[in-house]
Amino acid sequence: MSALLEVRGVRKRFGGVEALAGCSFRVEEGSITSLIGPNGSGKTTLFNAVTGFATPDEGDVELRGEKIQQLSPDRIYAKGLGRTFQQVRVFPRLSVLENVLVATSHSSVAQGLRTRTGASERERAMEILEYVNIARLAGVPAGSLSFGQKKLLEIATILVGEPKLLLLDEPAGGVNPTMTQQIGDKIRELNARGITFLVVEHNMEFVMGISHRVVVMARGKVIAEGPPDVVRRDPAVLEAYLGA
Ligand SMILES: Nc1ncnc2c1ncn2[C@@H]1O[C@H](COP(=O)(O)OP(=O)(O)OP(=O)(O)O)[C@@H](O)[C@H]1O
Ligand SMILES: [Mg+2]
Repeated sequence: MSALLEVRGVRKRFGGVEALAGCSFRVEEGSITSLIGPNGSGKTTLFNAVTGFATPDEGDVELRGEKIQQLSPDRIYAKGLGRTFQQVRVFPRLSVLENVLVATSHSSVAQGLRTRTGASERERAMEILEYVNIARLAGVPAGSLSFGQKKLLEIATILVGEPKLLLLDEPAGGVNPTMTQQIGDKIRELNARGITFLVVEHNMEFVMGISHRVVVMARGKVIAEGPPDVVRRDPAVLEAYLGA
């Protein structure tokens, strides 16, 4: 396997806080990799640094060997790197379908696809909603969805851009067990279709269930990585959580 994403020596400081203190790891193409760590260990900051929402003070972020840390979020998205946010972002007053259509109209990837397939924007949007099991809610304002359904909608809007790598920030956070299961199944299914995942999540059962590899952060650095069953027994990991 080869690295789809490589993070090398990334540092990011906010005033007196070193949120990322020389963070390095790789995400293998085709994998579901999880990024775990205590609150404040730098996981969201790392996502921001990888997706262009924050520029690293030092270090490199490479997508298939190409340095992307100076690119804008739009440019990075266009290269096939999609993300969701810890605080879900949907347009609450627009319908579920309209939320996906807005994403379509902003995605040059989706526009290219449309010319190729000849499918209308609306049909394509409905297909994606069906795929994430919320097509029955197409006409409903996005603001009235449950938290888990909003997370599925956010994933749907990102699938419009046909990402190669999808970064999910706490996809199961605040979501009920049934919906958590559904989101896990969807991740596995999309992975089988060729999408690589980097998932930040505190729900350990969820992480251990879906991940091929787990990367553990503490205080802005990677302190352990490996297969889930090895990482969960690593004394350094237990200490990082107990110490937090
Ligand atoms: N924009 C910012 N300005 C100042 N400090 C920040 C900023 N963003 C993050 N931090 C700080 O950087 C550190 C890492 O935060 P980050 O949100 O990346 O952690 P996290 O691992 O995602 O935590 P959680 O699991 O709670 O979501 C924290 O100390 C946080 O307070
Ligand atoms: Mg976070």
